Amino acid sequence: MPVPVRKAILPVGGLGTRFLPATKSLPKEMLPVVDKPLIQYAFEEGRAAGIEQFMVVTGRGKQAIEDHFDHAVELQDTLARRGRATALQLVRDSVPVPGQVSYTRQQDPLGLGHAVWCARHFIGDEPVAIILPDDLIIGEPGCLAQMVEAYRETGGTVIAAMEVPAEQVSSYGIITPGWTRDGLVEVRGLVEKPAAGTAPSRLAVIGRYIVQASLFAHLEGQEPGAGGEIQITDALTREIGAGPFNALLFEGRRFDCGDRTGWLEANIACALQRADMRPAVSALLASYG
Ligand code: G1P
Repeated sequence: MPVPVRKAILPVGGLGTRFLPATKSLPKEMLPVVDKPLIQYAFEEGRAAGIEQFMVVTGRGKQAIEDHFDHAVELQDTLARRGRATALQLVRDSVPVPGQVSYTRQQDPLGLGHAVWCARHFIGDEPVAIILPDDLIIGEPGCLAQMVEAYRETGGTVIAAMEVPAEQVSSYGIITPGWTRDGLVEVRGLVEKPAAGTAPSRLAVIGRYIVQASLFAHLEGQEPGAGGEIQITDALTREIGAGPFNALLFEGRRFDCGDRTGWLEANIACALQRADMRPAVSALLASYG
């Protein structure tokens, strides 16, 4: 039985330039999908997978995230006075138990691998999950819970994966696959954002990882890779052969909320899942032909 995964890192240092000017003063992870910010979807997915402690790796201008995971005292008082029980409950439900969420800052935007490395002291020698809030995954059970279940069987490293169209491979970490069994694919190689025509497959890494503490040793002093950034993919490559390393073809729908169209689609899909919104949203969509 592998060591259970109790901790998760949420890297949220990105600038969100594709959503300017909205992200000038609003962290992109606070963009709502219907009525819930992306960071809260990530937190809830982690909690549902058994994660007990979260380290959010932030950057400058991300204070709204800390405020979101705190009491909103005036708002709560006002809602209580006005008898708005449902709204009050929604506000209270978004507050973690004390001490469950910690924060550290990535002072320089040196890449995802560097952001993860900033959380190294939080990890100690335990395995850890990494959740990229930009990748919103709607599934039941959630994507990370599916990965934890697979990890209980395999141990080692488990990453989320899905097939992407050939013209999109250079936007992702791409897997060299080995054997496939019950939705698990052996990872024999990884390459970050391969140039068109050079990718080993169309199997892309999606923003969920379960990694061992040894990954942090690889990240230590690691040279920049694709795009001049310190890449988690490069550190993961060095874990291949050190223990089991598998990709899970998770069940559920993934939306790239780092992209405007992906984010819009997530809003539509989530609204259509809400019984109270579905009729009006369907009618609205039909009116656009
Ligand atoms: C990151 C990872 C990449 C992965 C992607 C999934 O890239 O570096 O390997 O495929 O997330 O969303 P980013 O989207 O931050 O450029």
